[in-house]
Amino acid sequence: MKSIWSKTCPMRERSTLSGDIQTEVAVIGAGMAGVLIAAALAEAGIRVVVLEADRIASGQTRNTTAKITSQHGAIYRKLTDTFGKDKAQQYAMANEAALAEYRRMIEKNGIDCDFEEQCANVYGNDAKILRAEAERAAALGLPASFTEQTDLPFPAAGAVRFAHQAQFHPLKFLKAVSEPLTIYEHTRVQTVTEHRLVTERCTVTAEKIVFACHTPFVNFPGLFFARMHQERSYVLALENAPPMDGMWIFADGEQNRYSFRTWNGLLLLGGGGHRCGENSAGGRYDALRKRAMEWYPQSREVAHWSAQDGMTGDGVPYIGQYASSRPDWYVATGFQKWGMTTSMVAAMFLKDSINGKKNPYADVFSPGRLNMKTVSGVLKEGGQSVKGLTRRFFQIPAEAVNALSPGQGGIVSLYGKKLGVYKDTDGSLYPVDVVCPHLGCQLAWNPDEKSWDCPCHGSRFDRFGRLISGPAQTELQKKSP
Ligand code: FES
Repeated sequence: MKSIWSKTCPMRERSTLSGDIQTEVAVIGAGMAGVLIAAALAEAGIRVVVLEADRIASGQTRNTTAKITSQHGAIYRKLTDTFGKDKAQQYAMANEAALAEYRRMIEKNGIDCDFEEQCANVYGNDAKILRAEAERAAALGLPASFTEQTDLPFPAAGAVRFAHQAQFHPLKFLKAVSEPLTIYEHTRVQTVTEHRLVTERCTVTAEKIVFACHTPFVNFPGLFFARMHQERSYVLALENAPPMDGMWIFADGEQNRYSFRTWNGLLLLGGGGHRCGENSAGGRYDALRKRAMEWYPQSREVAHWSAQDGMTGDGVPYIGQYASSRPDWYVATGFQKWGMTTSMVAAMFLKDSINGKKNPYADVFSPGRLNMKTVSGVLKEGGQSVKGLTRRFFQIPAEAVNALSPGQGGIVSLYGKKLGVYKDTDGSLYPVDVVCPHLGCQLAWNPDEKSWDCPCHGSRFDRFGRLISGPAQTELQKKSP
């Protein structure tokens, strides 16, 4: 299930760190955020290394839809109501500045990454709400207007349109930007204490440490695992679909919850989003395929893939100091499905912070924020985690192994124990402990991705129990069949 980005842009392999080193800054994670942060620091003359558990861009960056925009759904009315006009404007201007910085880097370095200017559109069925959103966004200085014209394959009342936004090929861009950087692959950081990072083979001593690894895996301080949840969504790449102008996403409350953009003659149709660990029925790709056949009967699928996004309780990413008790640690997480622009925002902010400068847009993103209007969202995240923890102890035992279809998995009672079992197409069984090694929630089987997903904080494991993504740091315990 490779994305079209992975299929069309292999990344150069890097060595694994095998001896102790010292550096000014260590960045954990070589996705778009980690690489951009490292590039910004290197440009400012700072000695920086990037430590990546797997390969460059092997997490969400290879699975994004790669829209670069300050339009993150219909959010600006909500942001203004929750945070006030000044902070909503900080959010807006930070993301517009990020878009401008992409343009600057691409032009300055002549990066061939299929960058093209497009309008970003958020569609819906309530014109009044959309008009109000467009007015609020325009009042913050964004290039926003309401339009009744949509290019969608179903009816909609209209859209909020942001002019002069962009889309690109994320891996072509990342490949060029990462080339001069010191990046160690297959170098998983296992523990971090003050200025010391320990990997499987060695130790890195760093004056400053940046967590740019999707979900920070140091639980205390910070508590980021309890302040976010993870969502998974699915994409089809279709050839022979009609051309479409602009990038499109749904507004909150919209029945037709799809995303669209084009690349190189292909239409990327996204949808099927759900909270991680809540897809036991499966069928997300098939539902998208059904829509594709209905809207574009002449089209043909050339790729399908999925991505996972960190969602914060108040809808704004956490970028800045990790915790007041760790003044030399920084974090960039909870990108809310808008990781391209937000990664650049993180690079600009953290470069300033590490250089001792105050960025004028940084306050709204502060990880230390707590505002009474946002507390309920944060508590809700904690509540969902508790649900995942209790499910482990009280859920009624599930089907027997025989009931599993070949190529699928499920939770079964086997010899008196509750286990996760994947049944391969040849009938071989792969039982694993389904207690998440992060904080002990019970994992759930995702039939579309053939993975074990954690409903609490989004760790994922492949069908054999190998770690795909954290915050868990270890694989699942294998059990005897
Ligand atoms: Fe936290 Fe699973 S990811 S318990």
